[in-house]
Amino acid sequence: MNWPGLLKQYQDFLPVTDKTPALTLKEGNTPLIHFPHLSSQLGVDLYGKVEGANPTGSFKDRGMVMAVAKAAEDGSTSVICASTGNTSASAAAYAAKAGMSAVIVIPKGKVALGKLAQAMMYGAEIVEIDGNFDDALKMVKHVNENAPVTLVNSVNPYRLEGQKTAAFEICEQLGAAPEVLAIPVGNAGNISAYWKGFKEFHDKKQTGLPKMFGFEAEGASAIVQNKVITDPETIATAIRIGNPASWNLAVNARDESSGKIGAVTDKEIVHAFKLLARKEGIFAEPGSCASIAGVIQQCANGDIKPGSRIVAVLTGNGLKDPQTAIEQLNTEPVSLPNDLDAVTAYIEDVVGA
Ligand code: F0G
Repeated sequence: MNWPGLLKQYQDFLPVTDKTPALTLKEGNTPLIHFPHLSSQLGVDLYGKVEGANPTGSFKDRGMVMAVAKAAEDGSTSVICASTGNTSASAAAYAAKAGMSAVIVIPKGKVALGKLAQAMMYGAEIVEIDGNFDDALKMVKHVNENAPVTLVNSVNPYRLEGQKTAAFEICEQLGAAPEVLAIPVGNAGNISAYWKGFKEFHDKKQTGLPKMFGFEAEGASAIVQNKVITDPETIATAIRIGNPASWNLAVNARDESSGKIGAVTDKEIVHAFKLLARKEGIFAEPGSCASIAGVIQQCANGDIKPGSRIVAVLTGNGLKDPQTAIEQLNTEPVSLPNDLDAVTAYIEDVVGA
């Protein structure tokens, strides 16, 4: 199939009009992959929705194509966002494609290198602050009150509209909604978007509804602790957020679906991060792996029942943050001289020749 991109593929479900530009980088249509090794280890039927396969390497492209297209339709020439990295990469890419400019505000030293490189390459104006994501979001909201720029954080409703399409794809790929949808929670937009998507698809196509299981990083678990975290900390910088903008929508998704929002420790995240790569061949960024860590935790405590069909959302590509990956491993490449015999002898030994 010649995939047309999200705005065309799901135009009947999206606020697309005759005047909406046909913007696309061919986002969406990401793989849903069965995980046989983790499934048998956990006694469930586990799939991953591999959102790292999107054009800029994260799920943000689904929302950004919609938000930037609507901004262009409304005559805007620039977009602005705060970001832990992925939103800024995506905003910068879609702004470039649409012929617009992008301004991004990011927490200094807390954005994975790949994401920063992307925003730079796509030509965004980048502002670093000595503060966290929540501070940056407050600033861009303030700027947005007066300046002629369009805010494309997930407080822009078009973002959630675009992001809900991942739920449609899952229903199409599985033939129905799964019993459990496991998803990382940072600013809480994506869990809200998925729930909206599952409900809309069910209304039209009777695909059923999953229980929504969201997972925050423990050091940034505002919703779980029911209080704003002023100094959030986690290895998973993508979800290092202490005051989620879509807090109420996420709680609503949890409660309407009889689901759960839990917290996973950095140790659990790192364990899931390595396990996923080694057992299933998927390199997803640490923040993404909060979903897998959460599934492991909830299978162990019995809140996810044996045999459940689960989809875990893997929100971003592992290549975004190679530094964290390398730091978590105790191995280094073996260094040998440029010598045929030495290299051959070593490898023959490794493969047991
Ligand atoms: N996973 C990744 C890889 C992310 O980048 C984010 C959010 C999330 C999960 C959480 O999604 O915020 O909708 O609950 N990243 C934002 C950013 C905050 O700026 O890139 P959420």
